[in-house]
Amino acid sequence: MATVHQSDGAAAANGKSNGHAEAPAANGKSNGHAEAAPANGNSNGHAEAAAANGESNGHGEAAAANGESNGHEVAAAAPEAVEWNFAGAKGGVLAATGANMSIRAIRYKISASVQENGPRPVLPLAHGDPSVFPAFRTAVEAEDAVAAALRTGQFNCYPAGVGLPAARSAVAEHLSQGVPYRLSADDIFLTAGGTQAIEVIIPVLAQTAGANILLPRPGYPNYEARAAFNKLEVRHFDLIPEKGWEIDLDSLESMADKNTTAMVIINPNNPCGSVYSYDHLAKVAEVARKLGILVIADEVYGKLVLGSAPFIPMGMFGHITPVLSIGSLSKSWIVPGWRLGWVAVYDPTKILEETKVTPNHSFHMLLRGLIKLLLC
Ligand SMILES: Cc1ncc(COP(=O)(O)O)c(C=O)c1O
Repeated sequence: MATVHQSDGAAAANGKSNGHAEAPAANGKSNGHAEAAPANGNSNGHAEAAAANGESNGHGEAAAANGESNGHEVAAAAPEAVEWNFAGAKGGVLAATGANMSIRAIRYKISASVQENGPRPVLPLAHGDPSVFPAFRTAVEAEDAVAAALRTGQFNCYPAGVGLPAARSAVAEHLSQGVPYRLSADDIFLTAGGTQAIEVIIPVLAQTAGANILLPRPGYPNYEARAAFNKLEVRHFDLIPEKGWEIDLDSLESMADKNTTAMVIINPNNPCGSVYSYDHLAKVAEVARKLGILVIADEVYGKLVLGSAPFIPMGMFGHITPVLSIGSLSKSWIVPGWRLGWVAVYDPTKILEETKVTPNHSFHMLLRGLIKLLLC
């Protein structure tokens, strides 16, 4: 509560006093001996100056503007104005950071440009929580399994940062069904949803000074936000609406250089809803190989395909170029509140292991090591 100093006899506008105010409230209530009483308010205490639009129950000599007083505040001198280092007016670091990097800031900017009553209908494409629709409910078996596991008391401990071995094996087993080779528990890093998977991958890529990453446009803004946070340069390639939002591979190639380390594809796509064909994904893998870059495949919607096009995991092409797949229970199992996701490393030909960045450190070790470090 902010405490303001007012001279004796000053009355609160819209405050309350039940105490000993001497000056009666204008349009308010007084039960006591108020020396200064609120206009339109009540006083409960011994307030000599009471709240503007607030309440006083105690012995405050000066009370809040628009606040409440229950205590024993003594009048404070009007605080000197402080030039907060983090404030926007001073070009403060935090203010600038908030405006540039907050996803909400981007959302508000977009919302502000929308004309709700304009000639074109506005579709709420940002609604990413399937569980709010009563028609969608996760399987009772899944809920029972989680409840039973909790009741064993075996999982209340701190788990390994990269996830419990049994859970990692289960995800590896599940993802292996979609590709012609087997993933092991070591290929899986469990995260707090797909969001944390993004949060651990981007800083790894940002370790190399001057590195850049290729992101789809339109895309999912968490990537831009995380890249900005880690000072990783972003270059955007276009998706082509006339071709089912396929990636414009020519434009993608033209913007890559020797500092490009990875590209992101979102498949099934948010926000466009498209599902890429086998042929298109094969071309993406070939281009990535030609450019010598990783493919980060955001596949959190992998099991939520509403149409005839089948979902093909990018890991299918892991032998062409290494793939880091981001997955999550949130959408496909309709349980975003469970906060469980993963990074799966699809690299059957061990390209990451063999790619030495320095004689002592392979990129593979760097990647796995840093992901582990960030998760532990
Ligand atoms: C494309 C995409 N990736 C990642 C996420 C984050 O997944 P999660 O909710 O599991 O953190 C979302 C959530 O909306 C998303 O749309």
